[in-house]
Amino acid sequence: MYYLTWSDDYSVNIKEIDEQHKKLLELFNILFKEMISGKGATVLGTLLDDLIEFATLHFDTEEKYMLEYEYPEYEEHKKEHDILKQRATEIRERLLNKELAPLSVHTLELLKEWINNHLLKMDNKYISFFNQKGLR
Ligand SMILES: [Fe+2]
Ligand SMILES: [Fe+2]
Repeated sequence: MYYLTWSDDYSVNIKEIDEQHKKLLELFNILFKEMISGKGATVLGTLLDDLIEFATLHFDTEEKYMLEYEYPEYEEHKKEHDILKQRATEIRERLLNKELAPLSVHTLELLKEWINNHLLKMDNKYISFFNQKGLR
């Protein structure tokens, strides 16, 4: 794996949402950096708190626009949001239960999947819809 650098490939052409998505890449980079120096476990609790807070705010933003502009794939999209947030919450619970598992690795994998399969695929699908509605 490598650090992620923001580029136009990640952009959904909506300023407010791009700013939020940058935070997701940042969380990935923070965890990756700490894991490389063997400190993944020390930052994991805070990182998961930040990730869940991010998810709540960010998904609310996207879903608010989807409802406002009557995005036809709202249900399907929201379902993925709920699953992603649930997965992050589950890892945090396992951490609180002091479970012996490589939870930093699970979190990094979740972030990677989130970026590759949700941000770059699911979110990318709404770009032209929102842009046509004048949202940028
Ligand atoms: Fe998103
Ligand atoms: Fe989304």
